Amino acid sequence: CITRNYTFNIVSHNVTRLCHTKSIVSVNGQYPGPRLVAREGDQVIVKVVNHVANNVTIHWHGIRQLRSGWADGPAYITQCPIQTGQTYTYNFTITGQIGTLFWHAHISWLRATLHGPIIILPRRNESYPFEKPYKEVPIIFGEWWNADPEAVISQALQTGGGPNVSDAYTINGLPGPLYNCSSKDTFRLKVKPGKTYMLRLINAALNDELFFSVANHTLTVVEADAVYIKPFNTDVLLITPGQTTNVLLKSKPYFPNATFFMAARPYFTGLGTFDNSTVAGILEYDHPSSIKKKMLFKPTLPPVNATASAVANFTKMFRSLATTKFPANVPQTVDKRFFFTVGLGSSPCPKNMSCQGPNGTKFAASINNVSFALPAKALLQSYFNGQSYGVYTTDFPANPPNPFNYTGTPPNNTFVSNATRAVVLPFNASVEVVLQDTSILGAESHPLHLHGFNFFVVGQGSGNFDSNKDPLSFNLVDPVERNTFGVPAGGWVAFRFQADNPGVWFMHCHFDIHNSWGLRMAWIVLDGLLPNQKLPPPPSDLPQC
Ligand code: C2O
Repeated sequence: CITRNYTFNIVSHNVTRLCHTKSIVSVNGQYPGPRLVAREGDQVIVKVVNHVANNVTIHWHGIRQLRSGWADGPAYITQCPIQTGQTYTYNFTITGQIGTLFWHAHISWLRATLHGPIIILPRRNESYPFEKPYKEVPIIFGEWWNADPEAVISQALQTGGGPNVSDAYTINGLPGPLYNCSSKDTFRLKVKPGKTYMLRLINAALNDELFFSVANHTLTVVEADAVYIKPFNTDVLLITPGQTTNVLLKSKPYFPNATFFMAARPYFTGLGTFDNSTVAGILEYDHPSSIKKKMLFKPTLPPVNATASAVANFTKMFRSLATTKFPANVPQTVDKRFFFTVGLGSSPCPKNMSCQGPNGTKFAASINNVSFALPAKALLQSYFNGQSYGVYTTDFPANPPNPFNYTGTPPNNTFVSNATRAVVLPFNASVEVVLQDTSILGAESHPLHLHGFNFFVVGQGSGNFDSNKDPLSFNLVDPVERNTFGVPAGGWVAFRFQADNPGVWFMHCHFDIHNSWGLRMAWIVLDGLLPNQKLPPPPSDLPQC
């Protein structure tokens, strides 16, 4: 194992897409940002230097951060922002994870332009539990706004309404030929015939789950969120913001002068506007230049409002590999059980404002009716110093305060409460969480992301969770292990994790707009008794608020 050193200079950088030039916040002037490459077991040190006017933090999405919570990155949860002119060095070790993850800014909506792949290779002299690919290619999906995404979110929060939607989706920063003024900005993957390519797919879009397909090519899914899974084949893949997955693509034996589109577009069941456009890239076969005839193949993608059951059938295909070498350590018993509702709602309109949210209110979103307010100081520091007073409370409700029929007629009262409440867990508790979509203001899925852990998705279903019947069919053998999973629109999901990582851990919807509206919360995992079960003190350069 070695140490990998990186320097991330946060700088402004001019980028032109769709014939609009704007200045974006970038890492080292790259969009998407640079790749971070390491092997399992390596230590990673990233020095982040902030040269822009915005406050910045960087999150290493999906990295477990075992006893290194100070390096996790969510603003006001594990650290105060890195201010203009300041430097903070993130230091962590990759433990027991192999595959693809990604890094992104974790403050406001800066991750729109501040994101890049994390590529974790097996240890030297270890190999993949599948055919070694000829080439590995990161494919990052993103969203492009002609406007400044920071202005988009601040306008939404100031008016209480929905945000302006993006102008394009992107593959590796490129919108592709289906948009105006964009065909030169197309991602092209040149392939040789008869080879296996590993695509490292990352959904870094802010607010959209995406379907992805490559014309006439079957994809074999082999890994999800840096954990191996039982391989399965699919023509179309659904990937939520915050999810990463590796797929194998076998190129055809011989396909002279053909081009195949790869394309992605949203899955969306909610109400209101969204970016309903399609990003395309091109898979191009190497061919003898003597052949002139061009053939173009386009993939078929499911309808934007595909049924929840079609989507559930796809997500149920994911199973842990669950072998001796790569076991699925699913907690078989439960110490702490939680039932959380997740969904949209609203807040009363302040007197001096005319609000553009539902019925003249402000849009909000909540877990168990609590819309989580970011504190003015970082939770982890406050917790570590024993200074919770005025920062957070530990009375997060274990059950929804107002029980109702989650999938029937929603209640008239859609108001949320605003607070900074956390749940405290003893060290190493085994935890089960059932997340139920409320369908208030529309049945939408919510890609829930947990920091500091992977969880096992032991069950999912449509309609109301039945606490007597549904647990009987939980999969405790080979459920998929992930850090992000969509709570189905109009349904529920159950997951388990072992709270073996002391610190303060954020959990939130990875739709940035839902996160901004408050669909987020914090877990506090206490230290264990042994020295190697305690969170070490903060690094000396930890930013202060
Ligand atoms: Cu990918 Cu809390 O984030």
